[in-house]
Amino acid sequence: MRMPTFEDFRIKTLGECRYPSPLNFPESLYESDDVRIRYAAEIPAETGMPDDISFEKAGPRQKIFFDPAETKAAIVTCGGISPGLNDVIRAIVMQLYYKYGVQHILGIQYGYKGLNPANWLEPVKLTPESVEGIHELGGTVLGSSRGQEDPAVMVNTLEKLGINILFCIGGDGTLRGAHVIAQEVEKRGLPISIIGLPKTIDNDIGYVAKTFGFDTAVAEAHEALQCAHVEARGAQNGIGLVKVMGRDSGFIAANATLANLDVNYTLIPEVPFDLHGKGAFLDVLEQRLKKRHHAVIVVAEGAGQEFFEGADEKDASGNILHKDIGVFLRDEITKYFKSKQMPITIKYIDPSYMIRSIPANASDSIFCAHLGRNAVHAAMAGKTDMIVGRWHDLFTHVPIPITTSSRKKISPDSFLWLSVLESTGQPVSMKSQS
Ligand code: F6P
Repeated sequence: MRMPTFEDFRIKTLGECRYPSPLNFPESLYESDDVRIRYAAEIPAETGMPDDISFEKAGPRQKIFFDPAETKAAIVTCGGISPGLNDVIRAIVMQLYYKYGVQHILGIQYGYKGLNPANWLEPVKLTPESVEGIHELGGTVLGSSRGQEDPAVMVNTLEKLGINILFCIGGDGTLRGAHVIAQEVEKRGLPISIIGLPKTIDNDIGYVAKTFGFDTAVAEAHEALQCAHVEARGAQNGIGLVKVMGRDSGFIAANATLANLDVNYTLIPEVPFDLHGKGAFLDVLEQRLKKRHHAVIVVAEGAGQEFFEGADEKDASGNILHKDIGVFLRDEITKYFKSKQMPITIKYIDPSYMIRSIPANASDSIFCAHLGRNAVHAAMAGKTDMIVGRWHDLFTHVPIPITTSSRKKISPDSFLWLSVLESTGQPVSMKSQS
C-alpha cells in the first residue's frame, strides 16, 4: 500500500462560499479551512521526519456555499444498525432547521434502496416535530439496507427531488457508495454535496479515531463479560466464553476486556493463535485452569477464521460472512478437556445483535450530536465527498477515498494491545511452540 500524502487529505468543495453564515456567532467561533489537525501526535525519535499528513478542521464557516432558503437536504442510513443512528438524524435535522434555516429535509427509506424508484420507497419529510424523541430509540427511524444501487439512478433521484445535500450515514460500504454518488454528481457538474458520517460498532473506519455506536456496544459487551465471569466463578474449572461482533477488527473485544478486568484471554482477528501444541491457546488455558480453576475468554467474531475451510460467502455489502468462531471454540475446548479427562463447565454467551440494537449511551449521544452538527456545517460550506471524523479529540474533515482505502485494525504493537496483554496476563503469542 502506498503511503498517503497531503493531497489525499485535501477536501473537495463545490465552489466559492458567497453567502454569509446565518449562525450569528462571534468571529472567534468560526473555523477557517486553513486550520489543520496533525495526523501524528507523537514526535518521532528520528527528528526531521516529515509529518505532512493532516486533516482539515471541522466546524462552522463564516461564509457558506448554499443559500439556506433554497437548500434541500436528504439523509440516508445504510448498513447494519448501530446505536446513535437516530441521534445523528435528529442532530442533522435540528441543526439544518433551526441554525441554518433549511426547511426542506427528506429522509430516504431503507438505505440506498430508497434512492432507486424501482423499490417504491417514497422519501419521508423530516422536521423538528417528526424527529422529536427519536434519539431515545435504538435502530434508525429511516430503516437501513446493505448493498449498492446504480449511482446514475440514485443521482437521477437526487436531481428529481431537487436535493442539494445528501448525508450518508454508515460504515465503509456506505461510504464507498457515497463516493460513487459524489463521482456521478461531479461528472454531471451538479452542485450537490455528499457528506458521510462514520457509523459502525466495529470502529474500523480508517483515519477516524472513533466511530459512533462503538462506545455503547463496548458497554453492552462488558455486561456480557461480567455475566461470563460470574458463571465461570460458579463452577470448578468454570469457563465463560463470550463472542462479540467485530468483523475484521477486534476493537470491541479489546475495549470490553479493558473495561471488564476479569477477562483472561482476548482473541482478535489481528493476532492469530493456534489451538493445539505447546504454548497454544488450549495448552495455556489448561495451565490456567489447573492454577486458578476458572477462566473468562472473549473472542471477536472475525478471529480464528483460518481454522475453517470452504468457500467464503459474502453479504450484500461485499463483506465476507464469517464462520462461527464462538461455537467452534466452545466445541474445541469441550473436546480437548474431555480427551484430557479433566472436567470443565463451559458457558457460552453470544450477545450478538443485542450490543448494537440498543439506544446510544451518554457518551455516544454526545458524540453523535457533535458529528451531526459538524456534518451540517461542512455541507452548508459546500464541502463534498468527505466524512466528519474525530482525531486527537477534535472533529475533522476526511476525504472519503482515503477513509475507505484501508480498514482500521488493532496493531499488535499498539498501546491498546499492550494494555490488553497487561490486563489479561495472556501470553504475547499463543502460537504453537511444538
Ligand atoms: O456493522 C458491523 C457489524 O455489526 C459487524 O460487527 C457484524 O459482523 C455485522 O455488522 C453483522 O451485520 P448484519 O448481520 O446486519 O449484516
